[in-house]
Amino acid sequence: MPIDQAFNDSIAYYDDWMRKALPNYADLFRTAQELVPFPPDQAIDVLDLGAGTGLFSQHIFEKYPNASFLLVDLAEKMLGVAKRRFGGHPQQFAYRVGDYRSIAVPHTFDLVISSLSIHHLSDAEKRDLFHSIHGFLRTPGIFLNIDQIRGETDYLRDLYWTHWLTQVRRNEPSQKRIQESIERRTAYDRDSLLADQLGWLSEAGFVNVDCVYKNFFVGVFLAMKA
Ligand SMILES: C[S@@+](CC[C@H](N)C(=O)[O-])C[C@H]1O[C@@H](n2cnc3c(N)ncnc32)[C@H](O)[C@@H]1O
Repeated sequence: MPIDQAFNDSIAYYDDWMRKALPNYADLFRTAQELVPFPPDQAIDVLDLGAGTGLFSQHIFEKYPNASFLLVDLAEKMLGVAKRRFGGHPQQFAYRVGDYRSIAVPHTFDLVISSLSIHHLSDAEKRDLFHSIHGFLRTPGIFLNIDQIRGETDYLRDLYWTHWLTQVRRNEPSQKRIQESIERRTAYDRDSLLADQLGWLSEAGFVNVDCVYKNFFVGVFLAMKA
C-alpha cells in the first residue's frame, strides 16, 4: 500500500492515536515551540513538511497568531483534517498535496517545521532534503524537526521498541489499531542514527545543530541558517 493511502486510512483516529502512541507528544511540541526565536507578534512565514492533520502547525500558530503557513503532505485526507482545523483562517493557511522531496516552493520561509515524517525517507533522501530545506529558508531562518532516531546498538533498538509497545498497550485498548501501527512502522519507518542526522544537517550548511530534547526514539532537532 502506498504511504499516502496508509495515512489517509488513519484519519478517523489519527490525532487520538498519536497521543496514545507518543505520550511525550505534548513535550515535543512544547519544546519545539520554545525554540522559535522570533517575537510572537511577527508575521512569520512557515512551511510544514509532512504536515498531516496540522498538529505541529497548530502549536506554532498558538505562539504566532499572525504567521502564514504552507502545509505540504502526500495524503490528501490528512490535509483535509488540517483544512477543517484551520478553516477559520483562510488567509493564513495554504495547502499543497505533494511530495516534499520534489516540491517547488513559492517563496522562502522564516521557519520550516516537520514532525514524525522525514523518518520515512532513506538516508540519502534525508540528506538531500536537508539541503533543499536550507534553500527554502531565509537568513536568519530556523528548521525544527521532531523525528525518530535509530538506536545505535541492537540493545538500544530493542529497548526503544519494547518501551514503545509497552506504552501503546497500556494506552490503547484496540488491538486492531496497535496492529495497524506496528504494520505502518514496519513497512514505512526508516529511522536514521542520531549522529548521522546531526551530521547531514551540518553538511547542508546549518549552524547551531542539536538534538535539543530526546525521549527514547524521538527527538527535537534544531538547525539554524545564520
Ligand atoms: C506520522 S504522520 C505525521 C503528521 C504530522 N506531522 C504529525 O506530527 O502529526 C507522517 C506524514 O508524513 C507524510 N509524508 C510521508 N512522506 C512524505 C513525502 N515524501 N512528502 C509529503 N508528505 C509525506 C504522510 O503522508 C503523513 O501524513
